[in-house]
Amino acid sequence: MYETIKYEVKEGIGYITINRPKAMNALNGEVLDEIYAACAEVQNDDAVKAVIVTGEGKAFVAGADIAQMNQLDSIGGRTLIAKGHKVMNYIESIEKPFIAAVNGFALGGGCELAMACDIRIASEKAKFGQPEVNLGIIPGFGGTQRLPRLVGKGMAKYLIMTAEMIGAEEANRIGLVEKVVAPDELIPTCEKLAQTIMSKAPIAIGVAKTTINNGYDLDMRAASTLEVEAFTSTFGSKDKTEGMTAFLEKREAKFENK
Ligand code: CAA
Repeated sequence: MYETIKYEVKEGIGYITINRPKAMNALNGEVLDEIYAACAEVQNDDAVKAVIVTGEGKAFVAGADIAQMNQLDSIGGRTLIAKGHKVMNYIESIEKPFIAAVNGFALGGGCELAMACDIRIASEKAKFGQPEVNLGIIPGFGGTQRLPRLVGKGMAKYLIMTAEMIGAEEANRIGLVEKVVAPDELIPTCEKLAQTIMSKAPIAIGVAKTTINNGYDLDMRAASTLEVEAFTSTFGSKDKTEGMTAFLEKREAKFENK
């Protein structure tokens, strides 16, 4: 049973909802532990084919918990930040799609949590930013690394050095989010997206995710080799036979995740 998040599974989708609305869903050590535990459930449950990560109330996540960080010395801070990295890296490593449904403030660690997900859909009310320099620190859950990879070095430096909060449309324009929708449409849009992805061959989806993530930082030659091996692993799957046979027989494929 979770205290700081909600985790439920409906029709193949795992919903991870950060649930500390009074603290704007700020990430303390306990929330990070619980997100990690929910991710382990996702990884181990074959019934879960996709995940939607969102926040309760008016924030997605307003960052790491400043009240908790204020009590920590540098060793404690390092432990918290290492834990955050462990969670973000775990999300990236699970071979199932994670969709961030960004309902409101996604600041600091919240923006970083959204960036660790595979696809970001934002409500028109969402706000993004990396305000850490206001607190005398820098982003610590991967922001200095994932933000430039998503929006480019210059824009990442602009956002991190100014601590400017940007709206959903601007986040969409710079490539930080993939789509902006009306608040009421946020969860239905994410569910439709999850269902679209879930209708495809699951092994191919998982292998595509890890091949993109693992190849992104390699040089082109090593990345090409990675793709050859990853492609070959899908080529040996039953789902490849089914997908191609279904196309040739002019019918819908029925994938078995095999
Ligand atoms: N940590 C702890 N508590 C937080 C919090 C955070 N990151 N963000 C908000 N809260 C708390 C507030 O302290 C307040 O608590 P009380 O009611 O007990 O006073 C409550 O949530 C509501 O917040 P506000 O009254 O400030 O609400 P608002 O609507 O006026 O403003 C906000 C909302 C713009 C999100 C503002 O709360 C804010 O700026 N929050 C901090 C954002 C921030 O600096 N995030 C980065 C954190 S550092 C980090 O994340 C490092 C890293 O990379 C890992």
